[in-house]
Amino acid sequence: MNILGIETSCDETAAAVVRGGREIMSSVVASQVERHAVFGGVVPEIASRMHCEAISGVVRKALSDAGLTLDDVDGVAVTAYPGLIGALLVGVNFAKSLGFSAGKPVVPVHHLRGHIASNYLTHPALEPPFLCLVVSGGHTHIVEVTDYTKMHLVGRTRDDAAGECFDKTARTLGLPYPGGLNMDRLADEGDPDAYKFPSPKVEGAPYDFSFSGLKSAVINTIHNKKQRGEEIVPADMAASIRRTVSDILCGRFLLAARDLGYARLAAAGGVAANSLLRRDLADRCAGAGFELYLPDMSLCGDNAAMIASQGYYELLAGNTAGSDLNASASMAI
Ligand code: KG4
Ligand code: ZN
Repeated sequence: MNILGIETSCDETAAAVVRGGREIMSSVVASQVERHAVFGGVVPEIASRMHCEAISGVVRKALSDAGLTLDDVDGVAVTAYPGLIGALLVGVNFAKSLGFSAGKPVVPVHHLRGHIASNYLTHPALEPPFLCLVVSGGHTHIVEVTDYTKMHLVGRTRDDAAGECFDKTARTLGLPYPGGLNMDRLADEGDPDAYKFPSPKVEGAPYDFSFSGLKSAVINTIHNKKQRGEEIVPADMAASIRRTVSDILCGRFLLAARDLGYARLAAAGGVAANSLLRRDLADRCAGAGFELYLPDMSLCGDNAAMIASQGYYELLAGNTAGSDLNASASMAI
C-alpha cells in the first residue's frame, strides 16, 4: 500500500511516498529556514504564504521521485494537528482537494504521532508497545505507545518545550536561528561543567518537565558574571545548557520507563537530533538494560515520510476523514 504524506505544520513544506508504512519511496522537504532566520524565529504569516507557493511542486516531485502517479497512491495522509493554524490549513485543504478529485481516502495525522513513526522507518523490526520521549520545538512528551494508533501521555512539560528552551537560550547567547542545532555545534567545543543550572522538578508529577526557568538562569548568570567583570565563555555556556537539558530529559524518561515496566524505549522529534542526548540515551539505556531506538538523523526534523508512515497505520485502523476535516492548532496525542 502506497501512502502519500503531506506536512505543513510549521516551516517545512514536505511531501513523501511511503510503501507499507516502512519503506520510503520518496521524501521531499522544502525548508523555509533561511526566510525566517532574519526574524530570529518562524513568522506564521510568511510560513502560510510560502506553503501555498511550494505545495503543488513539492507534492508533484514526491510522486515523480517515487516513479508513481496519483493512481498508484492508496491514501493521502496529512498533518492536521497540532501546529501553526494557517500553515496546517494549507496542507489540509490541499490533501482534501487531492483526495476528493482522485477518489482517495484522506487520513488526518497527529504531528507527534508522525514523529514517533519516524522510528518505524528507521527500524523495520520495531513494533509497539514501547515508551517514547517526544522532544520537538513545541512539545516535550513521554508517551506510552501501546499500539500503532493508541497512545497514552504519561509526562509533559508544564511550560517551555525542550526545543523552545534550546532556541531561547541560544538566542540569549547571540546564536542564529535555528538555535538548537547551532547550540549543539557550539557545545561540542565547551566544558559542560563550567556553569551549574537548576533542574526543577514538578511537585507530585515525577515524569513532568519545566524548562522555562533555564532561560532566566542563563540570563542571570551572564548578568552576574558581567557585574563581577568576569568573562563569559559562550561554548562553555552552550555545553552546560546542553548537559542540563539532556540530564533532565534522560533522568525523567528512564524513571518513567522503570516505573511503568517498559524495556523498549524510543525518542523522536527535532531535539532527538541532539548529539549529547543521543549519546546519553544510548549510554544510560545500555547501562540499565533498556533496548533503545533512535530515528535516523534525517528523520528527526519535520518531514512527510513520518506522516505517511503513521498515515498507513491510521488508514489500517479506519481513521479516515470526510470533507469536513479541519485543522487544529492544538490536539491531545
Ligand atoms: O520536530 P521539529 O523539527 O519541529 C517541531 O515539531 O517543533 O523540532 C524543532 C526543534 C527546534 O526547537 C530546534 O531548535 C530543535 O528541534 N533542534 C535541536 C537540534 N536540531 C533541531 N535541538 C537540539 N539539538 C539539535 N541538534
Ligand atoms: Zn515536528
